[in-house]
Amino acid sequence: MNKISLNTGITMFPMPAAVISVGIGEEANLITLAYIGKVCMKPPIIAISLQPKRHSYELIEKHGEFVINYPTKDQLRDMDYCGTRSGRDVNKWEDLNLTKEKGIVVQVPMVKEFPWNMECKVIKRIELGSHVCYFGEVVATHSDSQFVTNNRLDPEKFNCFAYINGNYIGLQNGILGNHGFSMK
Ligand SMILES: Cc1cc2nc3c(=O)[nH]c(=O)nc-3n(C[C@H](O)[C@H](O)[C@H](O)COP(=O)(O)O)c2cc1C
Repeated sequence: MNKISLNTGITMFPMPAAVISVGIGEEANLITLAYIGKVCMKPPIIAISLQPKRHSYELIEKHGEFVINYPTKDQLRDMDYCGTRSGRDVNKWEDLNLTKEKGIVVQVPMVKEFPWNMECKVIKRIELGSHVCYFGEVVATHSDSQFVTNNRLDPEKFNCFAYINGNYIGLQNGILGNHGFSMK
């Protein structure tokens, strides 16, 4: 193995990019984020990081809530759109014909057309440098029933993708092993 040193800007491999809704009512906006990760199981907490210059930053600061919306591979263009236009200039909901759907806990709307949604309440924020990191407790989750098996999201049914170094990569939906298979 011939290892070479890379710069420290290298990203995680892959990153779980998703579309985040922030803001309430007419102000509600959508932003694509790749700086996302599950960081605690009990309580369930997901961390997201935003640059303060984003329009969405003001909205998450104002309401302390967000929703993580996962599109399928077929909705990838919508995700890229939300990550390349600002809510200061356009209404992403209207441009993409997306519908605001009421969650069951938070006031921030979910994206009705995206099959997997997680409602989150901010419990902590940390200013790290270029980004502000928000820790959101997951207070409700929703999934289109066609992607669920035994009450869990089924990776073989969900048409998912990942974000790797600026590229959207389709995942093959093939399970290579289950948690703990190395113990058998
Ligand atoms: C795939 C992808 C991932 C992104 N990840 C982040 C991120 O993690 N944090 C961030 O602040 N901006 C990220 N962006 C940039 C914002 O989505 C983009 O600047 C967006 O237009 C901001 O929208 P707003 O001004 O309406 O808030 C990403 C963009 C793309 C396309």
